[in-house]
Amino acid sequence: MLLPSSSPDLNQKLNMNFIEALNWRYATKQFDPAKKVSDADLDTILHSGNLAATSYGLQPFKFVVVSDQKTRHDLVPFSYNQPQVAQASHAIVIAARTDVDEAFIRTMARLAEKTRDLEQGHLDGYAKQMIGSIMSMTEQQRLQWAQRQIYIALGNMMAACAVLKIDSCPMEGFVPAQYDRLLNLTDQNLTATVLLPVGYRSEDDSQQHCAKVRNPIEEIVIRHQA
Ligand SMILES: Cc1cc2nc3c(=O)[nH]c(=O)nc-3n(C[C@H](O)[C@H](O)[C@H](O)COP(=O)(O)O)c2cc1C
Repeated sequence: MLLPSSSPDLNQKLNMNFIEALNWRYATKQFDPAKKVSDADLDTILHSGNLAATSYGLQPFKFVVVSDQKTRHDLVPFSYNQPQVAQASHAIVIAARTDVDEAFIRTMARLAEKTRDLEQGHLDGYAKQMIGSIMSMTEQQRLQWAQRQIYIALGNMMAACAVLKIDSCPMEGFVPAQYDRLLNLTDQNLTATVLLPVGYRSEDDSQQHCAKVRNPIEEIVIRHQA
C-alpha cells in the first residue's frame, strides 16, 4: 500500500480507514459484468455527488445514470473501445448544463430562499451579483466554468465508491458529441463532460495488482513558511 508519508508520526495522525479506502481504489479497466451495484449504494454515490461544493452553489450539471445494457454497449465505440462502459454495473455520465442564464440563476436563488425559509426576494441582491459575474462570461467561458464544477462531484462519487468497496473508473476518453447524441443530452441542454462507470472489479483485471504511482508527499506538498 502506498503510504501518504514515511513519517510514523504523520501516519498516526491520519484516518487510515479513509486512506486505505483510497489506496484500494484504482481506475478499474475490467469489471465483472455479473455483479450489480444495489439501488441503495447507487443512491449513496449519487447523493455524495449532489453534496459536492460548487461555485455559488449553482450546480450547473446533471448526473445521467445509464443502466440499460444495450445503450452502454452502443457507447463503447464512442469511448475509444474502452470496455468499462458496457462491463460495469452502471455508467454515470456527468453532463454540464449549456443553459446557464439569468433565469436559471434566479431559480437557484429562489430554491435557496425556500430551503432556508427566507422571504421571497431576500436573495435578489445576491442573485444580481451572481448574474453579473456569470453572465459577463462568453458562452464558451461559461461552459468551461460549468465543466470545472463537475470534477469535485466526480471526486466525491469516487471517494464514496471507495468507502463502499465499489469500483469505478473516471473517464474522459470518449467523444462527447456522440454521447450527447446517443443519450439525447443536447435536447436537454446538456453536454457530456466526464464518465464514471461503477461496479465490481473483474478478477482478471491485472491493474488491481499494480502498485500506485504517486509522488512522495514531501514532493507534492509545499508547506509555505511566512
Ligand atoms: C479526468 C480523468 C480522466 C480519465 N480518463 C480515463 C479514461 O478515459 N480511461 C481510463 O482507463 N482511465 C482514465 N482515467 C484514469 C487515470 O488514468 C488514473 O486515475 C491514473 O492513472 C491514476 O491511477 P489510479 O486512479 O488507478 O490510482 C482518468 C482519470 C481522470 C481523473
